[in-house]
Amino acid sequence: MATTYALPDFIADLDRITRDESSPHVITEKVEPLLGRLIRNPAALPAEYRTRGPGGGRGRYMLHRTPRFNITAVVWAPGDVAAAHNHDTWGVIGVIENRIEETRYRVTPDTPGHARLEVMRVMRHEPGAISRLVPGDEVHRMHNPTSHDTVEIHVYGKDLVGLERKTWSEDGAEKRLVTSKYLNC
Ligand SMILES: [Fe+2]
Repeated sequence: MATTYALPDFIADLDRITRDESSPHVITEKVEPLLGRLIRNPAALPAEYRTRGPGGGRGRYMLHRTPRFNITAVVWAPGDVAAAHNHDTWGVIGVIENRIEETRYRVTPDTPGHARLEVMRVMRHEPGAISRLVPGDEVHRMHNPTSHDTVEIHVYGKDLVGLERKTWSEDGAEKRLVTSKYLNC
């Protein structure tokens, strides 16, 4: 039953899927309905992972970490924004509580250190919504425009620590986004 699908079931399915498949499109297509089942189970994410981080900032919690995928929880405080950034891997994001606004961009390199960012679409995800990140469509900005915390589960195909990622300001100025600290957005 959908309500009994829990984190260990999701981990076992991800383990199998990422062992059998290598295409980010196929993997994220298969993971999408499973993450949907997981986030419909109210007990899937304990309360300790639904709170903000130290100082009231973004909550980031590692739920499962392996070489082929990792599963984390993210809590966005009201007004919290992650500027446009890439991931360098596939991703599947599910909203558990409240809403998130996600803007997807097409990025065209311009001059060194600068790119042209075109908004492809702006999505407002409600609880139960799933968002997939695949090569060619994985640059996004995240924003919690509400007055409540937003809780999500993120799944990525690589460990994001130390990856050569990028972030862009509104005017297209590019910065490296590489850190030894775990970033799961
Ligand atoms: Fe992200």
